[in-house]
Amino acid sequence: MSVAKRWGPYTQMSSLKETGPMIIDRAQGVYVWDEAGRRYLDAHAGLWLANIGYGRSEIIDAVALQAQKLSWFSSFGGFSNRPSMALAERLINLLEPDGMGSVFFSNDGSEAVETALKISRQYWKARGMAQKFKLIGRHHAYHGVTMGALSVAGITLNRQAFEPLLTGVRHAPAPYRQHCTFHPNDSICSLACAREVERIIQFEGSGTVAAFIAEPIQAAGGVIIPSRDYLRQVRDICRRYDVLFIADEVVTGFGRLGDWTGSRYYGIQPDLMTFAKGITSGYLPLGATAVAPHIMETFIAQSQDGPEFRHGNTYSGHPLASAAALANIDIIENEGLLEHAAQMGDYLHRQLLSLSSQFSALVTDADCVGLLGRVEIISSSEGAGKRGAKMARHMLDNGVIVRPVGDVITLSPPLIITEPEIDFLIDALREALQAVGD
Ligand SMILES: Cc1ncc(COP(=O)(O)O)c(C=O)c1O
Repeated sequence: MSVAKRWGPYTQMSSLKETGPMIIDRAQGVYVWDEAGRRYLDAHAGLWLANIGYGRSEIIDAVALQAQKLSWFSSFGGFSNRPSMALAERLINLLEPDGMGSVFFSNDGSEAVETALKISRQYWKARGMAQKFKLIGRHHAYHGVTMGALSVAGITLNRQAFEPLLTGVRHAPAPYRQHCTFHPNDSICSLACAREVERIIQFEGSGTVAAFIAEPIQAAGGVIIPSRDYLRQVRDICRRYDVLFIADEVVTGFGRLGDWTGSRYYGIQPDLMTFAKGITSGYLPLGATAVAPHIMETFIAQSQDGPEFRHGNTYSGHPLASAAALANIDIIENEGLLEHAAQMGDYLHRQLLSLSSQFSALVTDADCVGLLGRVEIISSSEGAGKRGAKMARHMLDNGVIVRPVGDVITLSPPLIITEPEIDFLIDALREALQAVGD
């Protein structure tokens, strides 16, 4: 039997036997091209991340310049490099309204989350409360692929093959208004899911719970947009019970919601925040875990000899990734991309609402915050997810890339998208709805 040499991530390899994968050859702005020269509007920003768009020479130049000077050196044991120092400074200035004081670098979102979980556990040990080690995640959450990140994640299919996962992890319900298990028939949200977090903490005993982790909007779970007050209520609960609040901003950070962070959009200050993806818009891999000053102070106050935090990646603080992130932040600031994302988000929202009223028999929900959106459709008689997959396929054939999550078409275009490009996306959605509704 011949087998593929390249084993693709989250890929059904058996289905690629005849055709092989779809090779993307080049990209510019909001578009990517396959090897046959066909152009696609990337309405998913790759994987929620090409925020400034593709092919920006400023980033390429910044990385090349840095590579000529210092391609890499260790950040372990007291070494550092200027780009990562400058990036830390820049990030902490940016994240001041979120209450962050220090940042730890890694390579991707999974590592940023893993770092946050390990910091949370050690934090309570450092404060003499070793029994405070449990973690609370949520159903439908995606936090990455490492065993800790997977343990707090809540997408069952992703977890099953790797069980048993970490012990001491509990899961709260997602704030999924369209599929509320508490009051499925009420149009007014009572935020029972937020109170459930409190119930879990009470049941476990607050003296045993280290941290709660949440994506401000659950992206890979199907762009689950919470009620406006949900995060504020859960933040208050965590504060009341002395449970650290980790905001996983891997998707929502760096402009996706029209603000620097999802936490700021929803008016909360977490204890820890995780970033990746949009921090470099994908030009190079980089993860970051930011912490509030009280966390770092607690670590520094430990009296042990040696590193206060026995954790680090070979490429922590990589100078090339740091240079890419700095140039990426420059572009976001200089081109006003936060404001632009908010404006384009308003425009997208209006178009989605008119689409959902046109297809009211098929579309059960169409919504977005900034440029993170969803169109949910009724499952077909063939089974859950079949109609969503068909719709995405139809759109691909019409030159638009989206990502189906079951029967939710998720949208996350580059922040530089324009109104005519949104119109093109909406036309493709409309045609696909027409095709799958028949
Ligand atoms: C919210 C969130 N956290 C963490 C991750 C993991 O990031 P990575 O794939 O870079 O490890 C993802 C990836 O999609 C994510 O969406």
